[in-house]
Amino acid sequence: MTQPPPGFDRTLLLRDGRRVWVRPLTPQDAPELGEAIRTADPETLRRRFCGSAPRVTPQLLERLTVLDYERRFALVARCSEGPGVAVARYEATGRKMAEVAIAVAPAWRRVGLASALLHMLGLAALERGFERFTAVYSADNRPVAELLDYARGRRVIAEGVAEAEVRLRDHPEAPPDAARQSFSFFQRNP
Ligand SMILES: CC(C)(COP(=O)(O)OP(=O)(O)OC[C@H]1O[C@@H](n2cnc3c(N)ncnc32)[C@H](O)[C@@H]1OP(=O)(O)O)[C@@H](O)C(=O)NCCC(=O)NCCS
Repeated sequence: MTQPPPGFDRTLLLRDGRRVWVRPLTPQDAPELGEAIRTADPETLRRRFCGSAPRVTPQLLERLTVLDYERRFALVARCSEGPGVAVARYEATGRKMAEVAIAVAPAWRRVGLASALLHMLGLAALERGFERFTAVYSADNRPVAELLDYARGRRVIAEGVAEAEVRLRDHPEAPPDAARQSFSFFQRNP
C-alpha cells in the first residue's frame, strides 16, 4: 500500500469559526466513505456523481480509497467529533490534466471548505506536474459554477452537462511559485 505523503495534515479554520482536520484519504476510510455515500441525500449524490449515485461495492470503495497520491489523490476533512465532513479528489485524465470532484456535507457548506480543499489539491497537483484541472458537473449546479468563477474556469455546456477547465500553472492571477501559499485558486484573493 502506498503511504500517504506528509505535509497534508492540517487544521483549517472555517469562516464561521469551526475547525476541521484535513489529511490524505486512505483505505482505512473505506467503510465510513461507503456509509456516507449510502446515506447522503439524493441531491448531493446527483450533483457529486453528475447523475445517479453508484452502487456501493468493495470495488467502488477500493477505487475511491486506494490511491497513489500522484495520479490519484484525495483529501478528507473531519470535524472535532470525528466524522468526515468533506472529500475532495483528483484523478489524472492525461499526463498534465486531472479531473476533480468534491462533496461537502450540507451542514458544512458555504464556509469556505470546498475552496480550501480544492486549493490544497491544486497545490498538490502542481507539485506533481499537473497543469490543469477539469471538472464535470450538471449545468444547473450553481455552487460549482460560482466556485469555478473564482478559478477563472473556462466552461463548455452541452445537454445539461458542463465541463470546466482550470489552469493551475500560469493561472492568470497566480503569483510566482514562492508566493503560491498565500494565493487561492478557488477563493476571492485580496
Ligand atoms: C459544491 C460544493 C462542494 C461547495 O462546497 P462549499 O464548501 O459550500 O463551498 P465554499 O464554501 O468553498 O464556497 C466557495 C464559493 O462557491 C460559491 N458557492 C458555494 N455554495 C453556493 C451556493 N449554494 N450558491 C451559490 N454559490 C455558492 C460561492 O461563490 C462561494 O464563495 P462565497 O461563499 O465567498 O460567496 C457543495 O455545495 C457540495 O458538496 N455540493 C454537492 C456535491 C457537488 O455538487 N459536487 C461538485 C461536483 S463534483
